[in-house]
Amino acid sequence: MPSIGIIGTGMIGGAIALRLGSKGIAATVANSRGPETLAELVAKAGPSITAGTREEAASKDIVFVSVNWPKLKGALTGLPDWNGRILVDTNNPMQRPPLPAIDVGGRASTAIVEEWAPRARVVKAFNHHYFMNLEKSPDADGGRRLLFYAGDDANAKAEVAKLIDRLGFFGLDLGDVEHGSRLFQSPGGSLIAHDFVKIDSPLP
Ligand SMILES: NC(=O)c1ccc[n+]([C@@H]2O[C@H](COP(=O)([O-])OP(=O)(O)OC[C@H]3O[C@@H](n4cnc5c(N)ncnc54)[C@H](OP(=O)(O)O)[C@@H]3O)[C@@H](O)[C@H]2O)c1
Repeated sequence: MPSIGIIGTGMIGGAIALRLGSKGIAATVANSRGPETLAELVAKAGPSITAGTREEAASKDIVFVSVNWPKLKGALTGLPDWNGRILVDTNNPMQRPPLPAIDVGGRASTAIVEEWAPRARVVKAFNHHYFMNLEKSPDADGGRRLLFYAGDDANAKAEVAKLIDRLGFFGLDLGDVEHGSRLFQSPGGSLIAHDFVKIDSPLP
């Protein structure tokens, strides 16, 4: 089973920690202020979740990165070589109103994250729900909440898809970074912020 780290433990990183903790899946969480500031989240998420440094979280096989866009490049700077480890880009190029919109020059924001984390295999996922929907159980209305994902490395996507499934969500592969990730990038993507549920109905 791959080891898991989370860099950024606010609304989205915290929700991911709670989901992992609810399944007893081990993960190391890190923020900018140090492990001692994470006691409340760790206590809430359960015994499989431990606090660590940014470097410890970044050393895991699958690393969620959930940092507000203006601080994201800094959070990815000065880390050890990614060496093919998986980075799950949960981020969107935006900041809270009334702060101004962020201009990424019409690019897929995940392509920029790839530049900031050379030699990481980047998969975009866990970025299209409001955090409160991500915190909820994936079971909803007799089905499973949908999580979109996209990336250029098929093996990395398969690993993330396995984790999405273990968490109880229904993962839907939307393709590559250039085209697929734009569909659920915020702002602009047509699939953002919807709380879709996959109903597994038997064929007639
Ligand atoms: N909120 C949502 O509903 C939502 C939905 C979809 C996608 N997103 C995306 O998810 C990302 C995170 O958003 P959020 O709402 O979770 O933000 P947030 O609540 O403000 O949390 C940001 C986290 O990043 C950490 N951080 C900042 N600089 C860091 C550094 N240098 N090293 C390590 N950690 C650092 C912060 O730690 P400290 O507090 O210790 O500084 C904090 O834990 C953003 O890109 C956002 O666009 C958010």
